[in-house]
Amino acid sequence: MDQNTLKKSAAEYACANFIHDNMKLGLGTGSTVTFLVDALGKRIKEENLTITTVSTSSRTKRQAESLGIKVVDLNDVDELDLTIDGADQISSDYQGIKGGGAAHTLEKIVATASKRNLWIVDDSKLAEPFGSFPLPVEVLKTALHQLLLKFEAKNLNPKLRLDENGEPVKTHFGNLIVDLHLGEIKQPHELGQYLKSQVGVVEHGLFLDTVNTVIVGREAGPECIDT
Ligand code: A5P
Repeated sequence: MDQNTLKKSAAEYACANFIHDNMKLGLGTGSTVTFLVDALGKRIKEENLTITTVSTSSRTKRQAESLGIKVVDLNDVDELDLTIDGADQISSDYQGIKGGGAAHTLEKIVATASKRNLWIVDDSKLAEPFGSFPLPVEVLKTALHQLLLKFEAKNLNPKLRLDENGEPVKTHFGNLIVDLHLGEIKQPHELGQYLKSQVGVVEHGLFLDTVNTVIVGREAGPECIDT
């Protein structure tokens, strides 16, 4: 089975088992969430469900609206019942790295506004060591050079993220992404605090103590883990 089939199976399991009528739902970003949004559009139509969603990217918003799913601004909602999102890497104690799609700041804002968070992944996302996926950090453009110097001095191996044309990738908020090529993150909470305290850092991609449930797409079928 290829990874896309596993992503789809995790997404469809989440849609069938965790979404209920009248829910306020956060929608993440990425290829796995694309399968979720497809499945959600189908359920809403077939079962005539009333679901209000908040999106974490313009990509997800466009897809959701094209399927007739209601998308509102986070400022119009007090609290979300659940957010379903993908992840780039998950540790054995369910800490996460997100931001491979440069959407982690908005994803973290929406996750924080949610009573519960559920991640849908294929089994490759549980690879060890935690931190082998480069850690995305969203930074203000003005602070880029200073932050690169600081991160280099701390041996965090920073690289400005470029697109396929060699241009800096811009986030939803017009900021830049620096990826920290760490190989392994042994103390994620300490690293998260350090990054958060640097002037010019908007948000880092460590999602610590965030997730309540992980659904892993596996060859044998989706595995549902309560963390
Ligand atoms: C977006 O910035 C990321 O946090 C995504 O949630 C993450 O990259 C998962 O993407 P896939 O579902 O495409 O693997």
